[in-house]
Amino acid sequence: MTQTQTDTRADGQSILVTGASGTVGRQVVAELLHRGHRVRALTRDAAKARFPDGVEVVQGDLTEPDGLAPALEGVTGLHLIAFGGEYFAPLETGPRILELARAAGVRRVTVLHGGGPTPLEDAVRADDGLDWTVLMPVEFMSNALEWAAGIVERDEVREPFVNRLSAMVHEGDIGAVAAVALTEEGHGSREYVITGPQALTLAEKTATIAGARGRAVALVELTEDEAVARWRAAGHDDGLIGFLLEVYGNTPEAGYTVVDTVEKVTGRPARSFAEWAGQHAHAFTA
Ligand SMILES: NC(=O)c1ccc[n+]([C@@H]2O[C@H](COP(=O)([O-])OP(=O)(O)OC[C@H]3O[C@@H](n4cnc5c(N)ncnc54)[C@H](OP(=O)(O)O)[C@@H]3O)[C@@H](O)[C@H]2O)c1
Repeated sequence: MTQTQTDTRADGQSILVTGASGTVGRQVVAELLHRGHRVRALTRDAAKARFPDGVEVVQGDLTEPDGLAPALEGVTGLHLIAFGGEYFAPLETGPRILELARAAGVRRVTVLHGGGPTPLEDAVRADDGLDWTVLMPVEFMSNALEWAAGIVERDEVREPFVNRLSAMVHEGDIGAVAAVALTEEGHGSREYVITGPQALTLAEKTATIAGARGRAVALVELTEDEAVARWRAAGHDDGLIGFLLEVYGNTPEAGYTVVDTVEKVTGRPARSFAEWAGQHAHAFTA
């Protein structure tokens, strides 16, 4: 099913964005629109999803790739997520999606890396007929929204491993890097680690949010056992809990090492956590 809204853009490049209703996909859509490109957004539920004016909305499921042919018609660039299903299960249909993309004439592909190898990413990397770019962001700044309820209700953040460092990235900057890679020359066969401009501790992050909301935020350190109990209560399975313990307790160097990808690719500096917190201050205010 294709539900077409007003489309006044015609620069010759039409980009299909998957995961378009998600944290990163929304930003890819916004950046492409801002740059004047035609954007088609894929969602499993076109009746529910909300997109900006000018976006063409198409319904489809990446786990059922043969239904995607109409969505790919006339598309020159394709932004892909590497998961499809519960708990970011790796998308097994990647090779078929790429076959369809090539047949439709897609020239450029970006893939949002999911933290490990996936059949989709493997297929993309092996494809020398496409200009592909793998986007490897570190922690998203928007993860801080998970603290919103505790901050609004109790003026506190409760986390384990409070001294861990993270070079977290503004999701708008991931969108901006994707938009450039999808529409300009020179980004093929590349993988881009994408970070923000600073590595911050949890104390620095909570202080930044406190500054943005104009009210103090206490940081309460949880023991590992308390954190595991909380994640269990939230319904996380053992695999996810193990992953969280590893990335928070033993963050890999890439997670806290600042790189200049955003500036190199987009021509402007990466946005700071202070800027993000200012934009989201309402979420941390009663
Ligand atoms: N959070 C972090 O700090 C972080 C850091 C680095 C990398 N990552 C990676 O980023 C990814 C998550 O991205 P996100 O936060 O932007 O996702 P998200 O906000 O959870 O959104 C999920 C999106 O995926 C779409 N989707 C899910 N299954 C689908 C399917 N079968 N067919 C079509 N669309 C499907 C949903 O679309 P509809 O519901 O509209 O169909 C939705 O737009 C994960 O791979 C994660 O590992 C996260």
